Amino acid sequence: MNKIRYFGLFFAASLGVVAFMQIHSQEIPKLGKDSIKKVIAAMTLEEKAYFVTGRGMNMPGGGNTENPSSTPGGPVVGETRDLVEGAAGTTYEVPRLGITAMVMADGPAGLRITPKRKNSNDTFYCTAFPVATLLASTWDTDLVYKVGQAMGNEVLEYGADFLLGPGMNIHRNPLCGRNFEYYSEDPVITGKMAASMVRGVQSQGVGTSTKHFAANNAETNRNALNTIVSERALREIYLEGFRIAVEDAQPLTVMSSYNLINDVYTSESHDLLTKILRNDWGFKGYVMTDWFGGSDPVAQMKAGNDLLMPGSPDQAKAIMKAVQDNKLDVSVLDQNVEQILNILVQTPRFRGYKYSNKPDLKAHAVVARQAAADGMVLLKNSNATLPLSPKSRNLAAFGNTSYEIITGGTGSGKVNEAYSVSLVDGLKGAGFVVNEELRNAYDEYLRAAKAKSPQARPLSPRAPVAEMAVDPALTAGMAAAADTALITIGRNSGEGFDRKEENDFNLAQAEKDLIKSVSDAFHAKGKKVVVALNVGGVIETASWKSIPDAILLTWQGGQEAGNSIADVISGKVNPSGKLASTFPVKYQDVPSAKNFPGVVLEAEAKTAGDKDQDLMTAFRRPRASRVVYEEGIYVGYRYYETFGVAPSYEFGYGLSYTKFDIGKLSLSSKKFSGKITATVQVKNSGQVAGKEVVQLYLSAPAGKLDKPALELRGFAKTRFLKPGESQMLSFEISPRNLASFDSASSSWVAAAGKYTLKIGASSKDIRQSASFDLDKELTVKKESIALVPKTPINELKPSR
Ligand code: BGC
Repeated sequence: MNKIRYFGLFFAASLGVVAFMQIHSQEIPKLGKDSIKKVIAAMTLEEKAYFVTGRGMNMPGGGNTENPSSTPGGPVVGETRDLVEGAAGTTYEVPRLGITAMVMADGPAGLRITPKRKNSNDTFYCTAFPVATLLASTWDTDLVYKVGQAMGNEVLEYGADFLLGPGMNIHRNPLCGRNFEYYSEDPVITGKMAASMVRGVQSQGVGTSTKHFAANNAETNRNALNTIVSERALREIYLEGFRIAVEDAQPLTVMSSYNLINDVYTSESHDLLTKILRNDWGFKGYVMTDWFGGSDPVAQMKAGNDLLMPGSPDQAKAIMKAVQDNKLDVSVLDQNVEQILNILVQTPRFRGYKYSNKPDLKAHAVVARQAAADGMVLLKNSNATLPLSPKSRNLAAFGNTSYEIITGGTGSGKVNEAYSVSLVDGLKGAGFVVNEELRNAYDEYLRAAKAKSPQARPLSPRAPVAEMAVDPALTAGMAAAADTALITIGRNSGEGFDRKEENDFNLAQAEKDLIKSVSDAFHAKGKKVVVALNVGGVIETASWKSIPDAILLTWQGGQEAGNSIADVISGKVNPSGKLASTFPVKYQDVPSAKNFPGVVLEAEAKTAGDKDQDLMTAFRRPRASRVVYEEGIYVGYRYYETFGVAPSYEFGYGLSYTKFDIGKLSLSSKKFSGKITATVQVKNSGQVAGKEVVQLYLSAPAGKLDKPALELRGFAKTRFLKPGESQMLSFEISPRNLASFDSASSSWVAAAGKYTLKIGASSKDIRQSASFDLDKELTVKKESIALVPKTPINELKPSR
């Protein structure tokens, strides 16, 4: 008898006895009818232990899908099938108690499930929405809510219960391979975007999982990376976005991350998951691990990591044994179970929702197209090159990704969409004429290059095809025949891998040559050149940005990207996106450059016999490694502005086809007591209709704590303003907005002194400012003492 079957029979028999005893001693309670506490009291230890460990995800190298109740006639733990093919995981059901399974599916740029099934002629495609980096660049929380609604509706109608998103780690370093799944270098924009996404998705009656909690800012060796970071940097930068999302939107679940923080796995950290998440912030949902995250299931239970995903029988057995050996109090396990059940009763599957498998993909494509156009950032537009006039309709499109658009990143964040609109097809649809000779040359080159390049491994990005070297005669021919040149530069990245400085953050030589040679040829004929950046994250722009006439940061715009780009290029949509992360001049300017992605610990490197001490991609054996966040709170613009390092394009930057005037900033009071309201009028003073993002920054006095030169404290996007139209915007400043985290007292403290509010069209383009005073130091909130680093960190500080 094989092991699984033996275990199944044993399990069946033992549960049978328990069930028999229960039938005879009392009525068996049912979830939904009886109280959750009563249901838990009726659960056997086995049922509890299996319930808190998922059912595996059925993929090569994935979870163990051993199913103890598959034995015919046995009692009923875990009779879940793979309910939604391609979903990331499910949990055990316990039918005798009315406990249904839950289905979790990725996230975050759309629902990720298998588009075709063996026994069905139907298709199960999902909408690929723009990546999070693009959504953040809209600075439009209402639009992000709409995207969330559409995404959540697909989750619901395809029979899943939770979307594994939004991703909301901070863009600490541009090389993090998953930055495209995250919003920004700033926690306020991160938190507000995530809160809108959570509200939008959850408005459909399904759940979200804000991830990866927390400080998961690199992919290299991600399962064993020990992040050493100060309490202040954690609270102000790495946790703050999660706090905002939890307090504003109550995501039904939170996903802990793979890394350790200050020597403890996040999924085993009681400080993080209980003291901070539940006690300080009032989180009401349950916590699940990232897939196979952490190492000790008992420690995870104790920490408050309620559900282990995708789960394995070994974990369940370890939990049972710990209870039997008095190493884990059963009340702790009960609490984990209760926290999950509180949410489970809200899921569509439990409520018996009859899903259609037919979400309105057409309507959702419209949302995706609008969102993508609204998040594109116009970086340069000399002599009003864009929008292209009807006279410049003949285009020569250079660059591989003009023909093969990158809709989103790779890994679990990749969506299986039915189609994607390439840049050239989008342009053709908008009435542009795209040069066919050049198109044929690219098509042929790409076909041949792909035939030669190895197939991508599951979850890993295919090696990018090198830029085609365009024959100078062809370029010259195009400069004569076409009105305008368009050059696309593309980048892809994803889960498990960080990006590289060379040929990724920096342009490859072939790309630089392309920009130069095409620009020379077109400029010689008095014609213009537009560069489109089809990228998921930050790249180097300083060395080449003077060459083309216009640069449009299109990001990775999802399945409708080509249409959205055409909308902006044609002027149908006036660009209103602004950068939510800084584009530095060079990689070495990034404050975390010398501490990314970390180093393998020496002892570990020796045992492993490694010569080069290289860190590994996430899919190899994890090796103990460490990264120290020496830049402290000085991440992104907080660093560039405080330390006087000029970026290539600053945080908050983005051009429009029109102009906006910002009127005087008026404050409700010159002295702070309780709150202050700041009001400004924004007027469209240009020639075409458009929307403006208004950013509210605060410069706070340094008391006992050092302060960044300025910090984003609020933002708003105007409605669509016609030329001459204006809108009043107001912002409320709370005590919390004034405060910094004082580790010595574990509290948020606002120093007495003069505070200056600044209204900007970017972090550098400050248009108005006004000051107020705080008479006495204010302790705004006391927090738990948690996640204290073992040894002090030598953090970057501005000189006073
Ligand atoms: C990723 C998560 C994802 C999970 C399930 C993990 O590898 O880090 O973001 O939700 O897999 O697919």
